[in-house]
Amino acid sequence: MSKHLSEMEKEQGVHTDFKNNMTYGDYLQLDKILSSQHRLSDHHDEMLFITIHQVSELWMKLILHEIRAAIDHIEQDELDPAFKMLARVSKIQSQIIYAWDVLSTLTPSEYMEFRDKLGQASGFQSYQYRMIEFSLGYKSDYILKIYEKDPKLLKELKEAYKAPSLYDTAIKQLAKAGFDINPELLHRDYSKPYQSDPSVEEAWLAVYKDVETYWNLYQLAEKLIDIEDWIQQWRFRHMKTVERIIGHKMGTGGSSGVGYLKKVLDHCFFPELWNIRTKL
Ligand code: HEM
Repeated sequence: MSKHLSEMEKEQGVHTDFKNNMTYGDYLQLDKILSSQHRLSDHHDEMLFITIHQVSELWMKLILHEIRAAIDHIEQDELDPAFKMLARVSKIQSQIIYAWDVLSTLTPSEYMEFRDKLGQASGFQSYQYRMIEFSLGYKSDYILKIYEKDPKLLKELKEAYKAPSLYDTAIKQLAKAGFDINPELLHRDYSKPYQSDPSVEEAWLAVYKDVETYWNLYQLAEKLIDIEDWIQQWRFRHMKTVERIIGHKMGTGGSSGVGYLKKVLDHCFFPELWNIRTKL
């Protein structure tokens, strides 16, 4: 038997003896990841429901990792590595948008067979999703209340809530490039939601009118637009998938469901970057 294996090893150029070495599964801690799909019903399709959420949360973890590092780089005027990270964020976003196609194979009849098992659990409580929103400048404090039962997580969320967003750092870059940015924006209370400002709009307009002079800022702006565009597409696909599966029923998180998800689509992260498109 062992002779046979070692012959195979030689032929295939692979190793099979891992008594003393780390394997793929060890490195990736697959024992933890792959033992974390616990259905609460014995319904076949609940596995899809759990998997799609877990996959989305893993991608969100990487999105946060990239956005946070991009913010640090932009703060230090290192735009090139930040561009690379933000481009990766957009690619991940396109992945999680395609995930809706898989979830759409879940029919209303199938979902209704295990929906009651979820109780009040809802994606609305996804703290990574909220951290992404915070990192992009969308701060809604009522969300924090959800996490009061977990002080460690609440502390982390509050820190993210008070920190400058990707857009705040982009606006600082406009000021550094010599644009006359409203000084209140540069030292603002970052826990307040960002309000559109004419000085920022004028600066972005100037950037788009002279892209050669402001190539880096122009690239930064387009990376931001990519991210917001994909977020809106994610929100839209989520809303339509939800409508397809539960119609206009209330959400497990207690909202009006599709009505709430449609309303969220109105929120804009980088308002001036959209406004200037009409003015160019
Ligand atoms: C059958 C599938 C799904 C249904 C029926 C559904 C339904 C809903 C509903 C009705 C809401 C509004 C809050 C509430 O009242 O619960 C919501 C929010 C949310 N869901 Fe889903 N969802 C589904 C799949 C997913 C998946 C796969 C994700 C991926 C992580 C997700 C992430 C979220 C997030 C982040 C929110 C908060 C959105 C916001 O506040 O802007 N959902 N969902």
